[in-house]
Amino acid sequence: MSQLFKRTSMCGVLRTANAGETVILNGWAAKQRSLGGLIFVDLRDKTGIIQIVFDETAPKDVFQLASSIRSEYVIGVKGVVRERSSKNPDLPTGDIEVLASDLVLYNKAETPPIYVKDDDNVEDALRLKYRYLDLRKLKMQRNLSFRHRVTMIARNYFDENGFTEVETPVLVRSTPEGARDYLVPSRMNPGKFYALPQSPQLFKQLLMVGGTDRYMQIAKCFRDEDLRADRQPEFTQIDLEMSFVDQDDVIAIQEGFLKRLFKETLNVEIKTPLPRIPYDEAMERYGSDKPDTRFGFELKNLSDLPCVKNTEFKVFADILASGGDVRGICIDGGSSVYSRKKIDKLTQETKHYGAKGIVWIRVEEGGAFKSSVDKFFGKEELSEIAEVFGAKPGDLILIVSDQPKVVFDSLGFLRRHIADQMGLLDPKQFNLLWVTDFPMFEKDEEGNITAMHHPFTHPKEEDIPLLDTDPMKVKALAYDIVLNGVEMGGGSIRIHDPALQQKMFDILGISKEESRIKFGFLLDAFKYGAPPHGGLAYGLDRMVMLLLGESSIREVMAFPKNQNAQCLVSDAPNVVDEAQLEELSIAVRSSAENGLSE
Ligand code: AMO
Repeated sequence: MSQLFKRTSMCGVLRTANAGETVILNGWAAKQRSLGGLIFVDLRDKTGIIQIVFDETAPKDVFQLASSIRSEYVIGVKGVVRERSSKNPDLPTGDIEVLASDLVLYNKAETPPIYVKDDDNVEDALRLKYRYLDLRKLKMQRNLSFRHRVTMIARNYFDENGFTEVETPVLVRSTPEGARDYLVPSRMNPGKFYALPQSPQLFKQLLMVGGTDRYMQIAKCFRDEDLRADRQPEFTQIDLEMSFVDQDDVIAIQEGFLKRLFKETLNVEIKTPLPRIPYDEAMERYGSDKPDTRFGFELKNLSDLPCVKNTEFKVFADILASGGDVRGICIDGGSSVYSRKKIDKLTQETKHYGAKGIVWIRVEEGGAFKSSVDKFFGKEELSEIAEVFGAKPGDLILIVSDQPKVVFDSLGFLRRHIADQMGLLDPKQFNLLWVTDFPMFEKDEEGNITAMHHPFTHPKEEDIPLLDTDPMKVKALAYDIVLNGVEMGGGSIRIHDPALQQKMFDILGISKEESRIKFGFLLDAFKYGAPPHGGLAYGLDRMVMLLLGESSIREVMAFPKNQNAQCLVSDAPNVVDEAQLEELSIAVRSSAENGLSE
């Protein structure tokens, strides 16, 4: 083995104040340039890059070795820090360099398949396959360190507030929590499967029954669902549960955490208490249960306006007759931004949310209007609509009429999409808020009642009688924490009364037998004295993504999966030996069905 040069400093921390010091640095060669009698090497470690110079003062063999250095060679350097004659303002270490007197080559490197450069626009698949090279980028190392800071702050804060970190099992039984489970076969119990937890939900509730009082965990969760920029099959939660608390207690503890988190990571002061918006109001005003409040464009309901109610315009009339809504948003200064062609494009994009079309009205000078419904709405009627929004010349009003879900989804999308296109989403502004009073239930596509949060969520006390008469009206003690239009976390006060829990299962159409089979252990535990309890889980990946202003959680995970849920570094998932399958009593149906190549 080559001699180890024991490091005295990291590369990125040296400054002019260190001039004159002899240092030993270790790292990777980011770049090497030979200018006859001078060799420059940019040396990189996770803290940054510093320029190393080899000149005629270096021993001959050292100079010769330096001339052989190529990109990504791993080296150790000994030298003296000195001020540079020509400074580089783009580098934090740009005022200095290290004049080398000794050098060790730990390892050569083949030409890397991707450049180790933050602004390298290489395709995602290559970045993921050669993730260990991608991770050498300073941005990726900064992101990982930042993530580490976030977990340290969480651990410290919750520790100071009486929480105990407990690891819950990863081999659990399959329980329905919304997404599909990842299954793990059991060798010792042929034909039986564990599931990987979608969250530690049931175990953290059992910990409360077990007297743990306040629990936290940085918990790995697994959900077999389709991937998006803010979704991975394997992700991490900061998971929390507390006993003897109500919703205000949970929220107060979390606000203390968020305040500290923003202060210590970004030096941003968060004003608490944070705004709380009931679910119904969030939908009415923003068309979303995770509203982005960094900009306006709030929704207005036009259904009851006389000119809309009595219109001959068939699209509105038919929708209103079938119990639908007519709602709109007003884009300040949007008229000049959105040409006819651009509005057509918006319409196409909104179709994804079910909207069949968009009605537009341009507000012009002198009380004039131009609209896509000029045939049906006169100047007075259009001004009646414009008045609802307080619209002024230059504004653009966009209206969608459909069943409420389609209207909310479409306008919610348009609102944020347009704000994005108009450059109104300031990444340096952090609008945190709670969405509260979620409906207890929703209906799935087949019209079956399902739990909006999960079946263990406590209904609002005053709504409990409605469980028997009008369950769809029942609101839950559930709350989401939303940051700039992204759901960063969510939680609820839980049911701790076995009879109420059974009633929930009844409403959800989960039979006694089924609930016994699936949740018997929780119902049993509740028989032996469950404290009132509640909690919340943050998506750690999303939290870090938002704090760093990244657009995907992949940028804050060391080894994320690709779009097809594959790990390209290790090539997982993959086929296994026949013998392994046999031991697990598993027969693979056919290669084709399982996506395996022959
Ligand atoms: P929920 O399912 O809302 O609640 O999840 C909590 C938070 O986890 C994050 N999250 C994800 N992040 C990345 N990829 C995913 N596939 C993914 N799915 C969810 C989100 C979300 O807000 N047990 C409850 C919490 C509780 O009630 O205490 C739960 O898991 O940021």
